[in-house]
Amino acid sequence: MDFYRKLPKIELHAHLNGSLSNATLAELREHKYGKEVQLGTNDGFYKILNGETLSLEECFKKFHYAHDLTDRREALELATQRVIEDFARDNVIYLELRTTPKSTAHMPKREYLSTVLDVIRKSSELHPEIVVKLLPSIDRSKGIVEAEESVGLAIELDALYPGLMVGFDLSGNPFGTKFADFVPALQRARSHGFRMALHCGEFDDVQEVKEMFDFGMDRIGHGTFIEGENLEFAKKSRIPFECCPTSNVKCKTVPSYEEHHFYKLLKMKQPVCVCTDDFGVFETSLSQELEICAKTFNLSDDEMIELQQNTIEYTFANDQEKHKLRETLRKFKESR
Ligand code: IMP
Ligand code: ZN
Repeated sequence: MDFYRKLPKIELHAHLNGSLSNATLAELREHKYGKEVQLGTNDGFYKILNGETLSLEECFKKFHYAHDLTDRREALELATQRVIEDFARDNVIYLELRTTPKSTAHMPKREYLSTVLDVIRKSSELHPEIVVKLLPSIDRSKGIVEAEESVGLAIELDALYPGLMVGFDLSGNPFGTKFADFVPALQRARSHGFRMALHCGEFDDVQEVKEMFDFGMDRIGHGTFIEGENLEFAKKSRIPFECCPTSNVKCKTVPSYEEHHFYKLLKMKQPVCVCTDDFGVFETSLSQELEICAKTFNLSDDEMIELQQNTIEYTFANDQEKHKLRETLRKFKESR
């Protein structure tokens, strides 16, 4: 584990509210509800507070806990800070964090987005060891009006926070929604200059993947069910895949680590990177995901360094930022 922790890492697929550790959830809970709230021993939060193992169902509840606990400005600030600190502690040197701008009972959508951006901006002073960028997310389950609103807000706030928002994410439960409905909003975001990191092929729908490739994207989120002609297209276009092994195995979209498509992609020399998705929900870290990949597929330390070096090229960072990241990895490699 020591090698993976020390390895300077690049994280390109992390959802803010899925990346709250148990300690952060407990801290936020105390802020909102105080220490005294009684919990039954069967309650998932009781288990979180007492360090007990959670079932998968209880893990998924963390999205609900997180959304409830980050519905005020101060809480969202603290949550964003803690996520950045946790990634920095894991020696992540570049993070593209994504989150769905939302209006809550205590905060309009604009304030949600500006709060996260404020914390990211401040983090460059507090944590100069990690560069953090934001990808606003469009949650498919929330519909196209919300999507249009988020794109409008991001364009507006981009003028106030230049260089912090580098792309857009499309995520959320895709069932019962059509990709085509989100194309106008995504197109507007792209015309403004935002890059596209879209959850694609998370479930088996050949036609939707084709439609998404017709629209075009800069990175593929998961890409679990991209096969045949679609895989050929991704190969020809050299679109990088963001692979999140533990998330896929726990969500059962991939049967086991051994059968994860990461290795198939790596062997066919497809651009590919390893990410956490929701390290709080799935109880992992980027170091752990990389160690799992190395051990499962028998990859050497040098190959894992090379994987991080290649991942730099798939970021939405600017040339100067990429240059610095390359230097950090080069020095790490030389110092071994
Ligand atoms: P948030 O956008 O910061 O609130 O992060 C949590 C949200 O990310 C969830 O409500 C989903 O919309 C999205 N999300 C997290 N993991 C996944 C995934 O594996 N597939 C699709 N969407 C996801
Ligand atoms: Zn995701």
